[in-house]
Amino acid sequence: MFELISYERFRDTPKVRFFDVTIAQSNARDLVYHEGPAISPHNTSDQYWQFYLHPHQEDNLLALSGGRTFYLVNFQWETPFHIVRLEAGKDILRIPPGTFHRSVSDADGSIVLNQAVRAETTSIQKEFRVYNSFKIPKLYEVTSVAAAPPRIHGMDSTMLRAA
Ligand SMILES: [Fe+2]
Repeated sequence: MFELISYERFRDTPKVRFFDVTIAQSNARDLVYHEGPAISPHNTSDQYWQFYLHPHQEDNLLALSGGRTFYLVNFQWETPFHIVRLEAGKDILRIPPGTFHRSVSDADGSIVLNQAVRAETTSIQKEFRVYNSFKIPKLYEVTSVAAAPPRIHGMDSTMLRAA
């Protein structure tokens, strides 16, 4: 399952906030900046959702500014489809390997730091393939409006419609 990880806030005053956000096992870092309401990976030209899936990488995602909504699908989970809200300065979202994921930023965009844990034997090319949900029947079925609704975390249905 995915996890929401809290971290130590050393100092939290109106003007200074100081956090230790170390993910001890992380051996790769990426920083993703969304300008405005970006979708990552972007939808196909006919508006089908696309997803990333890392076979050999765990993501640990911390929003540094703005907000972003993550769509997670993993067929190993009891409920395969979850929608998780990430907001600046809140918990770190840990996504295990083998999980389809896509994200949509709020209207003002967002900056997310990923402290990844990547297997030594893999490559960036293998880990950053994009999967079109329309071409993967099970993925399409689970995320379609006809399927059981996703489990929502950290947001209400009003926010979901706005995302
Ligand atoms: Fe990822």
